[in-house]
Parts: sequence; structure tokens; C-alpha cells
Amino acid sequence: MVNRSRISGTGFYVPDKVVTNFDLEKMMDTSDEWIRERSGIIERRFVEPGVGTADLALEASKNALADAAIAPEELDFIIFATLSPDYYFPGSACLLQTKLGLKKIGALDVRTQCTGFIYGLSIADQYIKTGMYKKILVVGAEVHSNALDLSTRSRDISVLFGDGAGAVVLERKNDTNSGVLYSNMHSDGKRWEALNCQAYGSRYPADKMLADKKKIYMEIKGREVYQQAVRRIVEAVSECMEYCKMSLDDVKMVISHQMNARIIESAAKRLKLPDEKVFINIDEYGNTSSASVPIAFDECIRKGKIKRGDIVVFVAFGAGLTWGANVIQF
Ligand code: ACO
Repeated sequence: MVNRSRISGTGFYVPDKVVTNFDLEKMMDTSDEWIRERSGIIERRFVEPGVGTADLALEASKNALADAAIAPEELDFIIFATLSPDYYFPGSACLLQTKLGLKKIGALDVRTQCTGFIYGLSIADQYIKTGMYKKILVVGAEVHSNALDLSTRSRDISVLFGDGAGAVVLERKNDTNSGVLYSNMHSDGKRWEALNCQAYGSRYPADKMLADKKKIYMEIKGREVYQQAVRRIVEAVSECMEYCKMSLDDVKMVISHQMNARIIESAAKRLKLPDEKVFINIDEYGNTSSASVPIAFDECIRKGKIKRGDIVVFVAFGAGLTWGANVIQF
């Protein structure tokens, strides 16, 4: 008997409101040309006022549950990756649980930022393989737009991000032809300052935070992040191939966190990945942090780029610093 964690359903959701680079030109000193050239982004989605992260997660989850043909009541556990939760506390996983009409199952927030979905999938895989749970919902969702400084002061950061959610249902199956094959998770806390938002943390209580407005917004050392991201993505994918005794010839698609098209292309070049094995949709959605991998995965499936039985690698890099990858057979 082989216990494998099979992805039995996928789904994503983005808000209707499209914000183009030209829209941003009206808010700050930037240009469509600069944003496209430096990041590959053409447009992104922003929520309407009053919409929270768990609202986006709910829609993505409903789509994933429908795709898996299971009712929410069949779920044993929820894992919710986000760096932009609805509240400082409680966690968004609990909010999603009640929105799904559930009353008791465990609900866990994962706070490894853009790498959250990778960590979340790995955690879910372990619970399934040990026999503790049978059906787990893993979601990545972000509402960045409400926490962006959309003025020229933060133009190098705020043009990069968008809102969205992606979800998968992971199910225990006695099946050797599908499942999560391997995961790696890494971090380097020494470099925490490269990507951070200090507001609301214990070192920046509300009164101090308000005195220094900059701390309300995220801070990014763009070049350091760029260099580290390329290096760590290459390392994480190489580690996957080594552990699984595979080559990238065996892999149908590498789905990277969509942080910048240039970073993904640069890492792909170092890995000698052909274009057809690299999926990029940052042009449409911007950087949706923990949501970007499950959104891209669902789009690949809908577009027929990934079929049942294919080997797929998920890889991400984010604040912490954190990075990691999963190898799945779909
Ligand atoms: N519009 C127009 N000009 C801009 C903008 C903007 N939005 N932002 C910055 N500039 C200007 C700068 O002021 C600078 O002008 P100067 O030369 O007169 O001083 C010039 O453009 C170049 O700025 P750089 O910061 O050197 O631009 P760079 O080529 O490094 O690109 C970027 C910036 C895209 C942020 C890059 O560093 C990057 O991709 N970093 C990593 C990705 C990243 O940080 N993602 C965020 C999240 S990370 C994650 O998801 C894991």
C-alpha cells in the first residue's frame, strides 16, 4: 500500500478590476515601458474596497473543490499561505474555514511569504503520508493593493504587485502514478531586511509605526532580491532533480513564483530549460506572492500545457529569506 498525496483539484480567482501600467502612470511618475522592460508586467488585478484575502481564497477554494468533485464537509484540514492576511490576527485560514461553512476542522496560516504555497503543500503532503488526514485544502491568497504606497516614493515596489488567489485539493490515494514526490524548504534569516514590512510587528507597535510612515509599507532591496532569487531558484530546482534522480528532460513544466519575468528567464537560462517548460503569466496578474504558483498551475492545466501523469516542479522565493520547491506527478 502506497500513500501518495494526489492533487485532485485546482482553482484560482482574481478580482475583476484590471489595473494597467497606464493606470499607474496616472498615480505616480512611472511608465508602461519601464514596468514592462524591468518586470514583464502589463496589468494586474486589484480588489474593490472591503474585499479581504479570505474572500479571494474562498472563490479559488470553491473552484478547486468543484474541480476535485468534493464537498467542503469532506475536508480534514486547511492550510492558508499569505503575507497579506485579513487581520493581524486571527489567521485567514480560520476565516476561510467559516466561509466554507465548516465548524471544527483545523486551519493553519503559513507565513513564509512568497514561498508559502511551497511550504504549505509540503506540510499537507506530510499529514497525508503519515495517515493523519485524507483531504486537505492548500490555498495561497493575497490582497496586496490595500498595502501599497501608490505614489512615486515607492514606485520601484508598488508597480510589481497584484491581488489573487489559487488553491489545490490534496487527497490521499493508493496510486504510484501521481502525487507529491519531493519537497525542499530553505531559509536565510540573516537577509531578512532584503524584503520586509515592519508595521504591526512587536518591534514596531502602532504608535511608533505611525511616527515613521515608511514602515507601514513593504521595503525591498531590489538588486539583492533579484540576485538571491535567481541563485536560490536554480539551487532548489537542481536539488529536486538530484533527490528524485531525474533530469529536466523528465519534467513537463517548471512553475516558478511570478516575481519578475526577468528573474524567471534568468534562472531558466541557467538551468538550460527550454521556453516550453517555463510558464509566465506575470504580464496579466503581476506578483501575487503566495498565490502565483497555484494560479499559474491552474492556468497551465486549463490551457492543456499540463496533463495527468506529467511531472511538474513548483519553485518559489520570498521574504525571510525563504525558498523551496515541490516535485509533483499530476
Ligand atoms: N518607474 C520608472 N522608473 C523607476 C521605477 C518605476 N516604477 N522604479 C524605479 N525607477 C527608476 C529608479 O529611480 C532608477 O532611476 P535612477 O537611475 O535615475 O536612479 C532607475 O529606475 C533604475 O532603478 P533600479 O532600482 O536600478 O531598477 P532595476 O533595474 O534594479 O529594477 C526591480 C528594479 C524591477 C525592482 C528589480 O530590482 C527587481 O526585479 N528586483 C527583484 C524583484 C522584486 O523585488 N520583487 C518584489 C517582490 S520579491 C518576491 O516576490 C520574492
